[in-house]
Amino acid sequence: MPGILILLFLIHVEADDCPMKIDPPAVVVKYGDPISVNCTVFTEHLGMGWVAKQNPVPNQQGVQFLLWTVENLTVWDINPQCFANFEGVPQCLKKVLVTVYKTPDSVSISSENHTSSLVERRQHRLVCEVQNVAPIQNLMVKWYKGIEVVNITLYSGESKTPVNVSSTFLITPNRTDDGTQYKCVAELHLGPEGRQPPPAVESEPFRVTVHYAPSLISSSSEVMEVRKGEKVTLNCTAQGNPPPVYSWNTSHLQKMDWNKSVFTFSFLAPATYTCTADNYLGFESKHFTIQEKPGSLNTTWIVIITVAVFLAVVLIVSCCIYKFKG
Ligand SMILES: *[C@@H]1O[C@H](CO)[C@@H](O)[C@H](O)[C@H]1NC(C)=O
Ligand SMILES: *[C@@H]1O[C@H](CO)[C@@H](O)[C@H](O)[C@H]1NC(C)=O
Ligand SMILES: *[C@@H]1O[C@H](CO)[C@@H](O)[C@H](O)[C@H]1NC(C)=O
Ligand SMILES: *[C@@H]1O[C@H](CO)[C@@H](O)[C@H](O)[C@H]1NC(C)=O
Ligand SMILES: *[C@@H]1O[C@H](CO)[C@@H](O)[C@H](O)[C@H]1NC(C)=O
Ligand SMILES: *[C@@H]1O[C@H](CO)[C@@H](O)[C@H](O)[C@H]1NC(C)=O
Ligand SMILES: *[C@@H]1O[C@H](CO)[C@@H](O)[C@H](O)[C@H]1NC(C)=O
Ligand SMILES: *[C@@H]1O[C@H](CO)[C@@H](O)[C@H](O)[C@H]1NC(C)=O
Ligand SMILES: *[C@@H]1O[C@H](CO)[C@@H](O)[C@H](O)[C@H]1NC(C)=O
Repeated sequence: MPGILILLFLIHVEADDCPMKIDPPAVVVKYGDPISVNCTVFTEHLGMGWVAKQNPVPNQQGVQFLLWTVENLTVWDINPQCFANFEGVPQCLKKVLVTVYKTPDSVSISSENHTSSLVERRQHRLVCEVQNVAPIQNLMVKWYKGIEVVNITLYSGESKTPVNVSSTFLITPNRTDDGTQYKCVAELHLGPEGRQPPPAVESEPFRVTVHYAPSLISSSSEVMEVRKGEKVTLNCTAQGNPPPVYSWNTSHLQKMDWNKSVFTFSFLAPATYTCTADNYLGFESKHFTIQEKPGSLNTTWIVIITVAVFLAVVLIVSCCIYKFKG
């Protein structure tokens, strides 16, 4: 009997004009799930059956329809076909298009050097690894920045068995990206027969820290006129990540690591004071030039002296005129 079957397979037709129907003609099934397909033959025949790598149904006579059923589908390349034999004409054979899928076991993001600290304006590579997914040709990996899709990777190939794949995303962050969360989502787009929405597995969010060199918030030099006895505030605040370390110096003081961005003095001798904000990516310096402001006391004295001199001149002139006349 098997010998005859094989012989019959050698001369078969697979054509639309076969008097048979398969319902449903295409099935999307998750690996391990049940599947059932109904084959109906419309005319008299010598026997019909199913060939498949799991639960084949041997040749049967006297039936017009025959189900192929599997409780737990565990063959990736299942390729089931319904056949029917007729007198005087070649065997008919109809395929069922079965897509066996499997959602990934894991989806994860990693970065080169396994750090989430990125440097501003440098290019970094994030990699999304998708493990044990099938079929690859239906896979779509989406990259998200926050809630926005920023890139999509599609895969070509014809593998029916699970594979491990990755997708790369290149980022050149700036400081406004500090704290942003990225994630990647592996979706299986299985066509109209597949589940809607498509089955998806997403990675844990990957939060990036963006490092950048200090930059001063105010201008890099400042000239300040202060009166004697007046308070003075030197503000050297700079933005940087990691937070900058500050140091201060002046012509008569050595460099000092007073790690503070703002200083308030009740007295400050006229001089140039320099502050430096620095982190591992760079530094910026700010110069404060302190000058003594002409005090209001001095102005009063100038007025008094001017008035006094004027009065003295007037007095002397009047005296002379008086003496000369007299
Ligand atoms: C199979 O299809 C035939 C008609 O094509 C129908 O009569 C029969 O009920 C179906 N069987 C099942 C189990 O769906
Ligand atoms: C199918 O798989 C389920 C769980 O995966 C199991 O409980 C069941 O016994 C399996 N059935 C068969 C027929 O193997
Ligand atoms: C990763 O490490 C390599 C070698 O240690 C270095 O050249 C590269 O710049 C590093 N990349 C990042 C983003 O830090
Ligand atoms: C995918 O990667 C996992 C873990 O590294 C490994 O166990 C598995 O065998 C890989 N699968 C394939 C198809 O390469
Ligand atoms: C986005 O994906 C395309 C195609 O996969 C790739 O060529 C491109 O480099 C990706 N863009 C980024 C920023 O990674
Ligand atoms: C920082 O990058 C974002 C996009 O990643 C862009 O919209 C923004 O304009 C950039 N800002 C600066 C200051 O370059
Ligand atoms: C220092 O300057 C920065 C930026 O101009 C400002 O935000 C901050 O409040 C100032 N600090 C003081 C103590 O004045
Ligand atoms: C300097 O001060 C900043 C902010 O107060 C702090 O984060 C940092 O650890 C300090 N660094 C040093 C070396 O003292
Ligand atoms: C203070 O230090 C800075 C940087 O270290 C240097 O450029 C500057 O000349 C120094 N200023 C004085 C007055 O020593």
